[in-house]
Amino acid sequence: MTTKVNDANWWKTASIYQIYPKSFCDSGSKGTGDIQGIISKLDYLKLLGIDAIWLTPVYQSPMIDNGYDISDYYAINPDFGSMEDFDQLLSEAHQRGIRIIMDIVVNHTSTEHHWFQSALADKNSPYRDYYIWKDPVDGQAPNNWQSKFGGSAWEFDGTSGQYFLHLFAKEQADLNWENPTVRAEVKEVISYWAEKGVDGFRLDVINLISKQQDFPSDDIGDGRRFYTDGPRVHEYLQEISEAVFQKYGSVTVGEMSSTTLEHCQQYSSLDNKELSMVFNFHHLKADYPNGEKWTKAPFDFLQLKQIFNHWQTGLNGKGWGALFWCNHDQPRVVSRLGNDQQYRVESAKMLGASVHMMQGTPYIYQGEEIGMTNPGYTSIEQYRDVESTNMYDIMVNQQGVSHDEMIAILAQKSRDNSRTPMQWNSEVYAGFSKGQPWLEVAKNYPDINAEKAVADDDSVFYFYQQLIKLRKEIEVITTGSYLDLYPQHDAIFGYQRKSESQTLICLNNYYGEEAECVLPDEFDCDKAEYVLANYDLQADRVSQHQVLRPYETRILVLNN
Ligand code: GLC
Repeated sequence: MTTKVNDANWWKTASIYQIYPKSFCDSGSKGTGDIQGIISKLDYLKLLGIDAIWLTPVYQSPMIDNGYDISDYYAINPDFGSMEDFDQLLSEAHQRGIRIIMDIVVNHTSTEHHWFQSALADKNSPYRDYYIWKDPVDGQAPNNWQSKFGGSAWEFDGTSGQYFLHLFAKEQADLNWENPTVRAEVKEVISYWAEKGVDGFRLDVINLISKQQDFPSDDIGDGRRFYTDGPRVHEYLQEISEAVFQKYGSVTVGEMSSTTLEHCQQYSSLDNKELSMVFNFHHLKADYPNGEKWTKAPFDFLQLKQIFNHWQTGLNGKGWGALFWCNHDQPRVVSRLGNDQQYRVESAKMLGASVHMMQGTPYIYQGEEIGMTNPGYTSIEQYRDVESTNMYDIMVNQQGVSHDEMIAILAQKSRDNSRTPMQWNSEVYAGFSKGQPWLEVAKNYPDINAEKAVADDDSVFYFYQQLIKLRKEIEVITTGSYLDLYPQHDAIFGYQRKSESQTLICLNNYYGEEAECVLPDEFDCDKAEYVLANYDLQADRVSQHQVLRPYETRILVLNN
């Protein structure tokens, strides 16, 4: 049952662990995580079995958006450590067979970057054209594009009398990719890290880099249709891939905002011309009614299954996707789609199995492997995230949403839900730091922490360890086709993966009551075996008629 993988495609059977350094582990008492903290936890990650770490930005930054606002691409933020610390991390990770993937943020820079500072100081600076400047139109912003963090995407500079574009915070100015010098700078930045021995790159909001050059106002939306998967994006990616990624053999994953399947087939087309794989977020919009994030809403289960079906069948044989529920921008999945109280352990395992048995490369976000939950903050003072505080201001102070309603929305939707400090043990501050953390630790840390999980054979941690292992042992997980077995079932998400030699079925009950389904006739139950489940199945033979307990997951495999 062992798959032989060509090393160039190591990432097809790999599982990748995402670290948000600010919240991972503080080696001292600053209250913010650092690189030495990460090094001290490499053995923990080795035990989990992951193949690579995706490290979110550790570069020099004023930290308005926690590092996604880079002011120097060639320096490590001293809050996280030094370049020597980084080199040590790279070498200690490599010694353990763990690869390192760096986050590259090149849609924008911090406004504190010397390029922007020079552009701001002098309209004739060669750096002026590194950014996107426009004259006012009728005394107003050049168009009605909205920032992803709320408000206009244009900021006025009184000195030059022009506006500059920022699709995110006003301290994150968009780079002008039309300028070939900008593209040359980007190639140099990425080559610098590849030369150091970094194994790959995660490219932040990379499908937003090419803007429609007439910058039209959007009479039906917020402007995104004029810069998402924009006119020259594929050309730009091919240019960088040829110059850097292919040269260094880097694995790459692009973060694709509001993208389409057709574009993703091209970004990740298996000939490696652009990227190795893509993140898309459509499945995480199952709790955004009519696309609206800032509401309190249950998730639409049938829609969730439809979206997975669309992407799993659409990418098979054409491209490669990242599989994930959690990251530093998303609430904790066990609170979002599972039950973080009575069935926390069962639902955390079930949700893990649901995505890990699909085709693609799974990403595990720190703390997901121990079933960490949203913290349930009750006050606006507990929040730090720029998007959350902006939205509070806009919705409460400008749109009249009540304070209580907004607190309830943030408790469900805020990005800080996943950014709370990693829960290492039951000591003060969850063992994350010796000093007071920058963001409050979730109160449940005495029960939910890594030390407890590692000491308990039946924990979420060991279930994830099994999921990671299965991907390496069972070929059909990597290669098989995808079929949604019960698209209309109101509780069970069950799908089949099939290759020439194997069939796998993954059954998942998404709710707290028993649910039933019948396996396909052609699935030969006598030959099948359970390879993993989150309830005891010892006495069970595989039967056609399946009864799943609350949040139960069962993975069955048969050799054809
Ligand atoms: C990506 C990052 C997010 C950041 C944004 C702007 O979506 O994941 O954290 O705020 O890009 O860089």
